[in-house]
Amino acid sequence: MPHYDLAFKPAIGLYGQHDPSAALFVDGELVFAVEEERLTRQKHAANTFPERAIQACLDHHELELGDLDRVLLPYDPTLRKHILGHYFRRRLARPGLVQKAYGLQQQFVRETQAQFYPVRQIEHRLSALGDVPQIETLPHHACHAASAFHPSGFDEAVVLTVDAKGEYDSTVVWHGTQDGLERIRTYEHPSSLGLFFAAVTEYLGYRMFNGEGKVMGLAPYGERDEEIERTLREAVEPGVDYDVTGLVEEFNAERATERLEELFDRPRRATPGEFSQFEKDLAHVAQRLLEETVVDIAETYCERLGTANVALAGGVVLNCKMNKAIIESPAVEEVFIQPVAHDAGLALGAGWLDQSPRDVPEFTHAYWGPAYEFDEIRSLLETNKLEYHEPDDLERYVAERLADGDLVGWFQGRLELGPRALGNRSILADPRTSASRDRVNRYVKHREEWRPFAPSMLESAADEYLSTDRPDPFMITTTGVLPEKADEIPAALHPADETTRPQTVTETQNPRYHRLISEFADITGVPVVLNTSFNDHGEPIVNTPTEAIKDFFGMGLDVLVLEDLVVEK
Ligand SMILES: [Fe+2]
Repeated sequence: MPHYDLAFKPAIGLYGQHDPSAALFVDGELVFAVEEERLTRQKHAANTFPERAIQACLDHHELELGDLDRVLLPYDPTLRKHILGHYFRRRLARPGLVQKAYGLQQQFVRETQAQFYPVRQIEHRLSALGDVPQIETLPHHACHAASAFHPSGFDEAVVLTVDAKGEYDSTVVWHGTQDGLERIRTYEHPSSLGLFFAAVTEYLGYRMFNGEGKVMGLAPYGERDEEIERTLREAVEPGVDYDVTGLVEEFNAERATERLEELFDRPRRATPGEFSQFEKDLAHVAQRLLEETVVDIAETYCERLGTANVALAGGVVLNCKMNKAIIESPAVEEVFIQPVAHDAGLALGAGWLDQSPRDVPEFTHAYWGPAYEFDEIRSLLETNKLEYHEPDDLERYVAERLADGDLVGWFQGRLELGPRALGNRSILADPRTSASRDRVNRYVKHREEWRPFAPSMLESAADEYLSTDRPDPFMITTTGVLPEKADEIPAALHPADETTRPQTVTETQNPRYHRLISEFADITGVPVVLNTSFNDHGEPIVNTPTEAIKDFFGMGLDVLVLEDLVVEK
């Protein structure tokens, strides 16, 4: 009998409230993984037990819950004790004796529960699905670290896990070797870079754990403003010994946002909109301080540990601009970034953590989710009385439509794990004119016009277009575009700084997508397509063909491709 491990991040109680996912490992090998949001259709699936993702893992191998050998949870309740002092001090700081006593009593009850309740709570939820196997708990940041180091292909690396908070830790430096991971330095709660950036995100009218990427996208529109920087530095000390507790005093973005209001003597935005120069500059300065800090940590520990390899994970690592700064550091040679850097990737690390890193294959693609049979798709189209056709040369046909300016919904194979659509659930467009970008905004994405779109390009053409020759199969870094090529792909550049966030595509990674881009290159001379995720504004990436059809008719797409079949308006 094979050995089955199911790893998942619950998003209930103490496990962290967002981005639950589940992954199935057979004899230690990852075979299937999906985020709960793709199945519930609620972005980030906040406060949700990932029942559907768990069931999808079981269904993929026709298993019952009782067939599993272990359930692995990326949260270790015993580590909670490290944070106790902090919580009790916060309660004691409350004004008035009654409030102090009440706060302490509440905290005592909470902490007693926190030692035992989390595993029982999961046992209870799982028992509704079948016989509950043995449950093992693993530290949050160790799971992030394994998600980055184990599949990196590195013999040795500095591993940085940067997020809002694990059990008590917000940033951790690890030394990854073939013997595993050694914790070198812990930046404890509440000194959290994730919460620092979340506070700025809330202040600019977005929601934490959701709008951080938009703040990063806004940053290039701003400039380095000395007064803003001086004010922010009163509360935030950047660098390798960083301390943000002057801004973030507890796990409470609301409090930290109020602190920003005090510091700048200006109210936060209620909703995002036309940003003032002050707001753009604030985004710029916050991004700078974040980059300065993480680059300094990477450089310091590369030197101390004697390696120039860096592996990265944790929610903050979704910041592609920050990743660019690390890659460009002269102290750093090779970088591997786990593309599912946020908490949805914890399930991956939980499955790999107790394996020898050398036994874990390199992470070469993100297609770990459900796929749908050709016959199922055809009969779905027929039941819905939708006309379709099956071109002899699908990739050529679609490339021609793209070159004619059509917007294409492209649905193929297994759903991507992680925040980026990588050519299996993508909306594609011609990158050669900025009018094309406006079309995507107007007819499809209904989002802020200033936000950039990203390209997919043949890996073989990357050095012709990009200022780096480093391939990025996962759209997890930004990079410069060579000036002589920028005019060829205006729709895929950041309008303010002309950088781009490419996906480089190889035939091995995704043969059909590779062929499509090659055909587009053959027609236009440009081996690049604009690629944005297949979803409507505010919705998770589509999973099923039915969802793709609904979005096709709900948005201004011209062509829908479902595996080999084409539907047109
Ligand atoms: Fe995390």
